[in-house]
Amino acid sequence: MRISVVGSGYVGLVAAACFAELGHDVVSIDNDAEKIGRLQQGEVPIHEQHLPELLARHRNKKLTFSTDLAGAVRQSTAIFIAVGTPATNEGDADLSYVESVSRAIALGINDYKIVVEKSTVPVFTSNWIRKVMLLDGAPADLFDVASNPEFLREGTAVVDFLYPDRIVTGADTARCADVLRQIYLPLTDGSYYRRGDRVAVPAPKNWPGAARIIATTTKSAEIIKHASNAFLATKISFINAVANICESVGADVKEVCEGIGSDSRIGNRFLSPGVGYGGSCFPKDLKAFRHVARENGYDFTLLSSVISINEEQRARFLRKVRTALWTLKGKKIAVLGLAFKGGTDDIRESPAIEIVKSLLKEGCEIRAYDPAANDRAREVLPSQGISCYESAYDAIKGADALVILTDWSEFAELDLDRVRATLTYPIVVDGRNLYDPAVMATYGFLYYSVGRPDVQPARRIEKSEKITAAVTGKVE
Ligand code: UDX
Ligand code: UDX
Repeated sequence: MRISVVGSGYVGLVAAACFAELGHDVVSIDNDAEKIGRLQQGEVPIHEQHLPELLARHRNKKLTFSTDLAGAVRQSTAIFIAVGTPATNEGDADLSYVESVSRAIALGINDYKIVVEKSTVPVFTSNWIRKVMLLDGAPADLFDVASNPEFLREGTAVVDFLYPDRIVTGADTARCADVLRQIYLPLTDGSYYRRGDRVAVPAPKNWPGAARIIATTTKSAEIIKHASNAFLATKISFINAVANICESVGADVKEVCEGIGSDSRIGNRFLSPGVGYGGSCFPKDLKAFRHVARENGYDFTLLSSVISINEEQRARFLRKVRTALWTLKGKKIAVLGLAFKGGTDDIRESPAIEIVKSLLKEGCEIRAYDPAANDRAREVLPSQGISCYESAYDAIKGADALVILTDWSEFAELDLDRVRATLTYPIVVDGRNLYDPAVMATYGFLYYSVGRPDVQPARRIEKSEKITAAVTGKVE
């Protein structure tokens, strides 16, 4: 099938590459000509595992890039809208990009097509898209508007697309539902997975062999997306609140998580306490969901609590750093992690960025490292007071303490002897519970984490050479 995907960001580019992987003929559209040019040259503007291989495999074959939206619409049967839906200051979703793209699509409806919301949008958006397209002259019987929300986690978006827990399609006519069914057929009939070596991404363990599709109405599909993200964020704020209680009473939240997570009704995923959730989805989606609920007569106070617990978690972590260091002014702090989570270069609504900005305001000197987000972080962080390094150990060198803010797997496998020798003081404040407190104690660290007792070193704190030299004037 001929498909256009409008918006070549984290959502749109992955969707375009995966539709091409399923065998469709895809045009990836964007109004950022510079980005389209880079994509045509073979560049990959975002950090997503497997995406470079998919783009290389399909570029200029099943997948092309263009800024000509009207032209792409005319030659497509399905047009997916995957443009940004950022939060406005009032907290609702800014749908102006969705509206302007819908109006442009209306001009290209020359035979039957479906216009599909891939971006996360509030309920009723599909009605609005239909209204504006009719106002712009699209023939009423030549198009339907559908909802096909994405459940892609950044960093694992390609796997999440090709091996989904479920595909949700929202359509209000049988004709539209059938087009959506055809688009995903290679996944739902399992034929994609039986392509043997041509499968670009290996199946996760215990993959059932075919994807499940849930065909519903547009409104239900729009609610499913918001409710899904709201529930996941609620789990995270819940476990952060429980972690805070554990700290007050001296319990261990990792053991509490094991105890509650082993109940199959709760499950142990999305129960990792830390510095709070971030990203371009949860923060804006919860505010948008609460807003559209209020507009339709329901005051979603639960989400207000989820949001405030999340915001408080960052302030609470800053207090934890103060507990570890006493005064902050002039202290050299090594920070590992700037992205909103491990596995991505995305810093939108990143708790790490917010905490770094607060530490800079306190007069700290920050030595930061993130495997993928350094460049994007430099664009939003002040030029004074912070340096970004190309390795964890370079950032740690000579720091008075180490703060871990993002759960990159490489941060959980540091050479602890080397960290101990490189830090001026053996102080680690871990916002992601990447280490076992008992292990940190044996390595001689003062170790602070989330929801677990602070630990003192199991052995005398040997001053690093630098301090010894400063005190005695000679290196032992
Ligand atoms: C974002 C959110 O992350 C996601 O939750 C939501 O479902 C969709 O919006 P994302 O891909 O991250 O998705 O957005 P972004 O990375 O900002 O990409 C949007 C792309 O659309 C950009 O490349 C932008 O240039 C393009 N765009 C925007 C257009 O092509 N036309 C427009 O009118 C506006
Ligand atoms: C999320 C949803 O998971 C995905 O289904 C939806 O399509 C888009 O939004 P994403 O925002 O990319 O995906 O990342 P996710 O892995 O969900 O993490 C969101 C935030 O929660 C991150 O800041 C992460 O660090 C945090 N998190 C996640 C926790 O703090 N604890 C957890 O246990 C899980």
